[in-house]
Amino acid sequence: MTDIIRDADTTTKDRKRLFIKTYGCQMNVYDLERMRDVLAPLGYEPADEPDGADLVILNTCHIREKAAEKVYSELGRLKPLKEEKASTGKPMTITVAGCVAQAEGAEIQRRAPVVDLVVGPQTYHKLPELIANVHRARGEALDTEFEVEEKFDALAGPERHVEGFTAFVTVQEGCDKFCTFCVVPYTRGAEWSRPVDQIVMEVRALAAKGVREVTLLGQNVNAYHGDAPKSDATGGVWGLGQLVRHLAKIGGIERIRFTTSHPKDMEDDLIQAFADEPKLMPYFHLPVQSGSDKILKSMNRSHTAAEYMESIEKLRAARPDIAISGDMIVGFPGETDADFEATMELVRQVNYASCFSFKYSKRPGTPGAAMFNQIDEGVKSERLARLQALLSEQQVSFNRSMIGKTLPVLFEREGRFEGQLSGRSPYLQAVHCEGPLELIGQIANVEITGASQNALSGRLITKEIAAA
Ligand code: 5AD
Ligand code: SF4
Repeated sequence: MTDIIRDADTTTKDRKRLFIKTYGCQMNVYDLERMRDVLAPLGYEPADEPDGADLVILNTCHIREKAAEKVYSELGRLKPLKEEKASTGKPMTITVAGCVAQAEGAEIQRRAPVVDLVVGPQTYHKLPELIANVHRARGEALDTEFEVEEKFDALAGPERHVEGFTAFVTVQEGCDKFCTFCVVPYTRGAEWSRPVDQIVMEVRALAAKGVREVTLLGQNVNAYHGDAPKSDATGGVWGLGQLVRHLAKIGGIERIRFTTSHPKDMEDDLIQAFADEPKLMPYFHLPVQSGSDKILKSMNRSHTAAEYMESIEKLRAARPDIAISGDMIVGFPGETDADFEATMELVRQVNYASCFSFKYSKRPGTPGAAMFNQIDEGVKSERLARLQALLSEQQVSFNRSMIGKTLPVLFEREGRFEGQLSGRSPYLQAVHCEGPLELIGQIANVEITGASQNALSGRLITKEIAAA
């Protein structure tokens, strides 16, 4: 009996604190969860701050400018914390993960000896092993090799840790498009799709843990072409439309979304899914980057503005209420006033529900960075301000168009105020309204009474689960 108690005490003492700082894209938010999952069996529990943590992971993103510099200055701040921890006789292991790790590799440890481990996005399943190696006095510390399939095999399965009612599921990784402004094809490698059966297993396990909405993730998610399930005697590969329809049959899953898509990979079958699969939410994130064919060509986007508009029209024909979202870059090398006006014109034609917009920033190693006709920062800022004013107007008017409508809302959490719940509309808008806590994790109808740029408010009108 005493022995059992002693054993239990040892387990408690073995608990270690893990602090992960995440930068950037949705893919990284997903990676954060996976890193936590894979480290949990080793006794690592999430901590809110780096102070005193046993393991600190900087989960970096390379998409924005000066990403590497930000990581180095964060490492400078961690150095005294590591020394302080060492003075208590316990080491703090510092790991740099994500796209900066992939791009900078060994250079990180050369410039910042405080770093114990550098790990690229393809090898998170090996984190426990790598960290063990660090503890065994400097084993293999740099590991950025690509072993995509093994990674998914190692991380898939019913043991995934789930907190909420919505979850991200990676179905595709990498990119073969090589847009001339972007680092992803270099840092994330070639396009690769996960087999349907593996995805089904993960989504079933999520549904069993209470997840109601899944967002299928991929750098080029609509290029998905995964091995057909074993149950499909014809074999071959399935596209995203087929995958969505198949996942919609899983009991408990009420809503399906996916992101991010490329205009070149728009297949009619996926568009058709918006017409005939009610669980596929009416929201499509389809980045175009520019409205000028000259700039699109120079960006190596392999589509024209007219082809993009054609896809939008097809989507609207399939699902008239679909919310369109996008990404725009202003000030790409060689962008004239006329090119920028073409972007403004395309935005007017599309009428976005929401859209991210960025000033072009040079990413070392990409073709865009070497182009000679770079645009003045002042011009970029002025164009971005004009574009954002138009996009804000469109977002506000899209949100206001919901007033008076009744929308099914998936409630995800308590709101900021007492008695308030917070959830999402089918169009991905945040919705706040008063309601009982039992509704968290359920879909209920809300009559929309107010709208701002970033959220809707309303009145709960049913307590029964509403159709999406
Ligand atoms: N400069 C500006 N924006 C960029 N993006 C990617 N790379 C750059 C860059 N070098 C934007 C694109 C992409 C989004 C994720 O980030 O709009 O769609
Ligand atoms: Fe980057 Fe273009 Fe690939 Fe998107 S499609 S990840 S912007 S290279």
